[in-house]
Amino acid sequence: MEYLTHKNEKIPLIGFGTYRMGENGRLSKGEKEAMAKGVESYGMTLIDTAEMYSNGNSETATGEFIGEYDRNRFFIVDKILPQNAEKGLYRECCKASLKRLNIDCIDLYLLHWRGNVDLKDLVCHMEALKNDGLIRHWGVSNFDIHDMRELFAVKHGKNCFCNQILYNLTVRGAEFDLIPWCRENGVLIMAYSPLCHTEKSRKALVSDDIIIKTAKSEGKTPESLALSFVIRNKDIITVFKTGCKEHLKTNMRNVFLPISDDDLSALSAKYNPPTHATELETL
Ligand SMILES: NC(=O)c1ccc[n+]([C@@H]2O[C@H](COP(=O)([O-])OP(=O)(O)OC[C@H]3O[C@@H](n4cnc5c(N)ncnc54)[C@H](OP(=O)(O)O)[C@@H]3O)[C@@H](O)[C@H]2O)c1
Repeated sequence: MEYLTHKNEKIPLIGFGTYRMGENGRLSKGEKEAMAKGVESYGMTLIDTAEMYSNGNSETATGEFIGEYDRNRFFIVDKILPQNAEKGLYRECCKASLKRLNIDCIDLYLLHWRGNVDLKDLVCHMEALKNDGLIRHWGVSNFDIHDMRELFAVKHGKNCFCNQILYNLTVRGAEFDLIPWCRENGVLIMAYSPLCHTEKSRKALVSDDIIIKTAKSEGKTPESLALSFVIRNKDIITVFKTGCKEHLKTNMRNVFLPISDDDLSALSAKYNPPTHATELETL
């Protein structure tokens, strides 16, 4: 694994997503094998979950999984739903998530998306959870640049650790302004759906001739090329989901080797970087 350091935290560049994992509260055999291999062979100790995922069952399954290891090896990311945040249920939701995860403290607690959440209220509650030791850091997800500016105008809003956003080879709009803004203002970007989320989109990407050719010339697989692209500057982290250890192996092949400038240009000729500001895409 390769790491970056953000606000004195050493964080793996690649972690596990748990959307649609542990749907009945336990990991399936394949999911458990994949996660165990991810931790043991690849150092994927960042796990991203949310109260929304399978109505809390992904948190429960994550908790059972990490319970077999030393808790301190992991960096656990969790998210509160905006509809709960709007009602001021931060503490109740955080405690319920902690219970399902069977841990004392969440490493990074995010607002899942903006919704109608009052940002002053958000910061106030998140800072209180931090001061009380229920979370170590807080952040946001799916915040566009205007949301980030608004957040930073709030007292202590600058304590936002991270913005988790949709970002991959096929969705590059954030490169225009949001990613540079976050870099300048010390907000870590965590890219979700680096493999395009749906089977149809992933298949379209990995069967594209340019991707196949570039992956081959870089000694990567199409999937590991897609991941390498997202983390290419080593200042953005990403989380992908797999419940299959063979897929995991495919995804991690030479993933930390840099992509050559020529190959990056070839990729950008097909998957264009943005030329103007666009609204942040979300799922
Ligand atoms: N904040 C947000 O709003 C938000 C939104 C979406 C996602 N997320 C987070 O980001 C994580 C990752 O995003 P994602 O789950 O949407 O999408 P993703 O990681 O881009 O893609 C996951 C899909 O790709 C498949 N896959 C992975 N490797 C494969 C391979 N080598 N060959 C074939 N299929 C492969 C997985 O199926 P298999 O299990 O069969 O491998 C799964 O269906 C989520 O799990 C979640 O934690 C956050």
